Amino acid sequence: MERMSNEAIEALIPQLDAVDESPGAAALRARSYELLRAVQGALVVDVGCGAGRAVAELADQGVRVIGIDVNDQMIALARERWPSGEFRVGDAYALPLGNGEAAGYRADKVIHALADPRRALTEARRVLTSGGRIVLCGQDWDTFVIDSSNPELTRTIVRKRGEQVPSPRAARQYRNLLLDAGFRDATVEVHTGVFTDGSFLPVLTRLAEVCCEHGAIARAQADAWIAEQRERVQADRLFAAVPFFMAAATSP
Ligand SMILES: C[S@@+](CC[C@H](N)C(=O)[O-])C[C@H]1O[C@@H](n2cnc3c(N)ncnc32)[C@H](O)[C@@H]1O
Repeated sequence: MERMSNEAIEALIPQLDAVDESPGAAALRARSYELLRAVQGALVVDVGCGAGRAVAELADQGVRVIGIDVNDQMIALARERWPSGEFRVGDAYALPLGNGEAAGYRADKVIHALADPRRALTEARRVLTSGGRIVLCGQDWDTFVIDSSNPELTRTIVRKRGEQVPSPRAARQYRNLLLDAGFRDATVEVHTGVFTDGSFLPVLTRLAEVCCEHGAIARAQADAWIAEQRERVQADRLFAAVPFFMAAATSP
């Protein structure tokens, strides 16, 4: 996912919006801001900022925040949605910041998208000042709990979808990655999102579609699986749970 096509970005945006609008998402973002411990005027960088909501929310708290994303289409959308926000095209492996320039580093649903998370955390160390805070959040792509009448196919979909992600189990590795990169006082929290309505359908649909696109399941299997999830929404029987990992640490 490091160099996504325009089509992939267009498919990703409604999913990110659905997650952002899901119950508990605002509280999770607020928790990530709390863990950053950003003081007014301090510079925070939101790496892989996507459509920029966190940048706007942190700016509202008086934090000086720059959203950075490798994808220029995402940055254009972020600028359109949040015209007063500061956004730059940039790479998590080579941030457009000087040594020790930032007091906070946040990456939400990003580290799994990198083939080399260790390199990104070395770069985070470079841009963070001593005592600066880093917060990583995201789901583990091997740990989606989805109710379905076809658990075998569901397991295949989750596993095969995970295989399309550069670092699918990065979230369960956050603490070790942070410690290995030299950060201290690493903490990890797990907040499980529970989804029972249609707002989660775009995410489920995309899981099956990506598997289908990569030939991991047949078109008919994807269609049947998606149709069942749609029926579950109509009957108020959709159930999905996704553990969301949030790790924080301090730069030495
Ligand atoms: C799943 S989205 C999450 C976006 C946002 N943080 C959110 O929570 O909605 C992952 C984002 O990471 C960006 N990304 C992927 N690889 C990157 C890299 N090497 N450097 C910076 N951003 C990257 C993608 O373009 C995408 O916008």
